[in-house]
Amino acid sequence: MTKFKRHLITSALPYANGPLHIGHLAGVYVPSDIYTRYLRLRGEDVIHICGSDEHGVPITIKARQEGVTPREIIDRYHELNKKAFEDFGISFDIYSRTSNDIHYETASEIFKTLYDKGEFIEKTTPQYFDEEAKVFLADRYIQGTCPHCSNESAYGDQCERCGTSLNATDLINPRSTISGSQPVMKETKHWYLPLDKYEPFLKKWILEGKKHWKSNVYGQCKSWIDQGLQPRAVSRDLDWGVPLPIEGTEGKVLYVWFDAPIGYISATRELTADWEKYWKDPETRMIHFIGKDNIVFHCIVFPSMLNAEGSYILPDNVPANEFLNLENDKISTSRNWAVWLHEYLEEFPGKQDVLRYVLCANAPETKDNDFTWKDFQARNNNELVAIYGNFVNRAIVLTNKYFEGKVPERADLSGYDREVLDTMPAIHKRLEESLDQFRFREALREAMNLARLGNKYLADTEPWKIWKSDPERVGTILNISLQISAALTVLTEPFLPFSAERLRQFLNTGPIGWERAGESDLLPAGHAIGGGGLLFEKVTDEQVEQQVNKLLATREANKNDGNKLPPAKENISYEQFAAMDIRTGTVLSAERVPKTKKLLKLTIDTGIDTRTVVSGIAEYFEPEKIVGKKVSFLVNLEPRKIRGIDSQGMILMAEDTEGRLVFVSPDGDIENGSIIK
Ligand code: 2FM
Ligand code: ZN
Repeated sequence: MTKFKRHLITSALPYANGPLHIGHLAGVYVPSDIYTRYLRLRGEDVIHICGSDEHGVPITIKARQEGVTPREIIDRYHELNKKAFEDFGISFDIYSRTSNDIHYETASEIFKTLYDKGEFIEKTTPQYFDEEAKVFLADRYIQGTCPHCSNESAYGDQCERCGTSLNATDLINPRSTISGSQPVMKETKHWYLPLDKYEPFLKKWILEGKKHWKSNVYGQCKSWIDQGLQPRAVSRDLDWGVPLPIEGTEGKVLYVWFDAPIGYISATRELTADWEKYWKDPETRMIHFIGKDNIVFHCIVFPSMLNAEGSYILPDNVPANEFLNLENDKISTSRNWAVWLHEYLEEFPGKQDVLRYVLCANAPETKDNDFTWKDFQARNNNELVAIYGNFVNRAIVLTNKYFEGKVPERADLSGYDREVLDTMPAIHKRLEESLDQFRFREALREAMNLARLGNKYLADTEPWKIWKSDPERVGTILNISLQISAALTVLTEPFLPFSAERLRQFLNTGPIGWERAGESDLLPAGHAIGGGGLLFEKVTDEQVEQQVNKLLATREANKNDGNKLPPAKENISYEQFAAMDIRTGTVLSAERVPKTKKLLKLTIDTGIDTRTVVSGIAEYFEPEKIVGKKVSFLVNLEPRKIRGIDSQGMILMAEDTEGRLVFVSPDGDIENGSIIK
């Protein structure tokens, strides 16, 4: 690791509009906590910053839905989430909130500085306004019919059925979700951050200077920059947020993504009067831990703001993770498809480390990953219990049994003993290298390799069989086993802090410095160890079944609740139906549309010709798996440009009440171009 004077670790500020789930932990907070604990163990000067992100439209929508104030929502979830983090041992130095005065001051100051420097572009544009409620409508407050797929409940920023990104003005028959009235267009002025102007800076700083960043992060930045950056509005017409610090702009607030990352600065100010050394001294190393949906804001927008401001440092690295799925389905708060942290703790009390372990071992570091309860059980029972727990338990029990709980002397060493002792520093070194590169899964595997080494050593040497014939040899074996156990208290501490502490109690030792973890004299001969106990317990089949059943019940409830089949649409004439030219066709090729999550670009053999279409199905189908698929195809739909691609027609899909999609394919072999009527 390059030598820096100090480290500033930030973890994405979660929105205070819902509880935390395993996806949050796996994506951001387990890795950031591991890294921070590691730096602390190394004796580095480090602070770990987090807090609630308490602005933004979803909070106001939730408040409106519940008939309460946004303040009530944020207070509720701030407290709940703060506690969940504490319970899981996520060791922030501060868990602040963006509704604090100090945050309003800090965000306003930074906006003012940029404003006074003339950085912003001011633009007046027409925007939807609700005349009944007398408010400008954020995109999420407008619903209407999607011009691409006729979904009548598309939002002003996106159609959730076909996945197309929309402008509110694209919607047919727009309506305000606040009053239900039809909104009117009204001019409004906003302030824009000219990202296009910062392109040269970003190219040099990221594209040339950050080639060592994780490839998912670098790749996303490159794709944004390569496509050309646009000015981004940093103000909104809203009554919830940091008021715009300019005269005569009542009713306008800072856009949540302008103020949220500044929350890291405000929280540091709240933590220490000496905050500037963390933010303004180039000898500080700043690392942002985030999920992949936050990359553009942390790698492009926030650094541009800081750079334009001029007195702040920029992040040294942004090791963003991909997403965690749950039992093969996307985690979703609205569908209650999640393992909520506060519920987990009620159902698995005291088992925080097990979840931390599973989420790290299976972390979505380079691709989306899946959490399953079966895997949770297997990792607990086969790894934590059978390897780590079993090893230390045996070492402690045997020491108590044969040596009255005192670390025995080490006599002559065998070749095997030496080999084991030599492996300890090697594991320590590899683990350190993995952590330095933010490879947490690999690092955890190394920590477990130390437990594995000890477990195998005891199983191979079988001291219980030679006690009578060679007690001196047993002493040596147990001494070595106890040294390994002591090293485990250090090397597992970043990952499994609760168990590391218990193990220290079992061994009757205090914290051991990180640098010493490869050494083999951590517990001197004669040292009295503690009583011992079980570090981990088995997860039973019943417990797994209970969790799986809970999810199945959620799936059932989702089917029956709120997501019922929509009623039949109004009748149409035969002529209207006959006007549609639907044919059988075949998918010839399929590829993802860059920078979108949901869109695929497909070429279709329609029998008449070969067409290109853009379809919002990327979340449901792997492109390579649908090549050759027979489809039903509407050929005479007016062509549209989607993401710069001419989309000529539409593939017919069936969608169930949970939004799952399947192709409507001809049942039988029929040539392309056949008419469907
Ligand atoms: O995606 C989110 O949950 C955001 N609330 C993260 C904000 S991170 C930082 F900018 F505050
Ligand atoms: Zn649509």
